Amino acid sequence: MNSTYRKAVLFAVVSFMGLVIFLPASPALASDTLTSKRTEVMNIAHRGASGQAPENTIAAFDRSIAYDADFFELDVQMTKDGKLVLIHDTTVDRTTNGTGAVKDLTFDEIRALDAGSWFDASFAGEKVPTLEEALDRYQDKIGILIELKDPHLYPGIEQKVADALIERNLHQAENIIVQSFNWDVVQSFHDILPAVPTGVLVSSGQTIDGEITNEQLMSFSAYADFVNPNKSLLNQDTVNRIHEHELKTWPYTIKDRKWVERLMEWGVDGIITDYPIFVNTTASANNMKTLVERFEGKELTRDDAQDIKLHLSAISHYEQHDKGEKVVKHLNSLLALLDYQLDHHLLSKRAYDILQGEVHYLLEKW
Ligand code: G3P
Ligand code: CA
Repeated sequence: MNSTYRKAVLFAVVSFMGLVIFLPASPALASDTLTSKRTEVMNIAHRGASGQAPENTIAAFDRSIAYDADFFELDVQMTKDGKLVLIHDTTVDRTTNGTGAVKDLTFDEIRALDAGSWFDASFAGEKVPTLEEALDRYQDKIGILIELKDPHLYPGIEQKVADALIERNLHQAENIIVQSFNWDVVQSFHDILPAVPTGVLVSSGQTIDGEITNEQLMSFSAYADFVNPNKSLLNQDTVNRIHEHELKTWPYTIKDRKWVERLMEWGVDGIITDYPIFVNTTASANNMKTLVERFEGKELTRDDAQDIKLHLSAISHYEQHDKGEKVVKHLNSLLALLDYQLDHHLLSKRAYDILQGEVHYLLEKW
C-alpha cells in the first residue's frame, strides 16, 4: 500500500480510538468464538473447509475440525488400479499439477501429484488422500459425508466403499453418511449396507419444472434419509414437504451469511458450506479477523492485513460498547480501505468478495 495512504488510514483509526493499537492480537483461529454453536443446525464443511484450504485434502479436513464443523464432506472416485481417492473433478487438472482422468491414472501416479499449490503456495506438497486414510484418521473425531462422485465411471464403487466401512466396523456408525447425485447408486448402496444413512443429492436438472415433487420425495424415502439439494431449489414449502416425508435436508453449497440465515429460518437440518465459520459463529469484527488471518501473507500482504485488522479492532471495541454510530463509521472506512486495496491489486478478488460481504452484512445489522 502507498505509504501516504497507509499513514492516513492509521491516523484515522488511532485518532478515533487511542488505545486500539495496544489491543492484544487475536489468536490464530480465534477458537474461543469458533467453539460455540449458534444453533442446532449441522455444520458440514464442503470438501473440508475448502474456502480456507485446498479441497479434499488433509489440510482442508483438519481445518474443518479446527473450525468446529460437525461433519466434513468428501468426493470419492477410483483410480485405474482400483484405489478409492478423494478428488472432486473427474480429471486431476484443476486441483493438482498433473493432467488426465482419475480413472486413467494409477494410484502411484496420482499420489505423486501436488494437490495444494493450485490453492496457495503455502499448501505445496498436499497429496490426494485415499478414502481409507480419511476414515482411519477422522472416524472418531468428526462425521464424514461421503459423496460417490460420478459413480457411473466406476462400476462397483458402492461395494468398494461399503467394504472399506465394513473393514473398520463403520457399517453401523451414525456419523458416516453416503450420498450421490446418482440415485440408483444410492439405492444400491442402501441395499448393501442398510444401516448406514444415505442421502440423495439433487441438482436443478433433476427436478420437475424446478421443483422437488412429492412423488420424488416418496421414492427417496424408501432408501434415503437425506435430500440434499442445491440451495436454490429450497423454499419454506419444500423444506416442510421434505420433513413431512420424514427426510432431513442438508442443502449445498453455502458461501455467505445471508444464505445461512435464510436456510436456518426455513428449518433445514444442516448446511453444507465452504466456510464453517459462517454457520456456527455470529458476524462480528472479531470473527472477521480469523478470515483476514486466512488471507494474510497469501492474498494480501502482512502490512495490508494489519491495516484491516486495525479497523477491525476499532470496530470490535465499539461493538462491545454498543456504539452503533462509530461502528458504522469504521465499517464504511473499512469498505473504502478494501476498495482501495482491490483497486491497487493489494488484495485478491476472492478475499475482497468475502470481506466486503461481511462488512455489508454488519452494516445492515447496525
Ligand atoms: O455435498 C454437496 C456437494 O458436494 C455437491 O456438489 O459439485 O460440490 O460435489 P459438488
Ligand atoms: Ca461433493
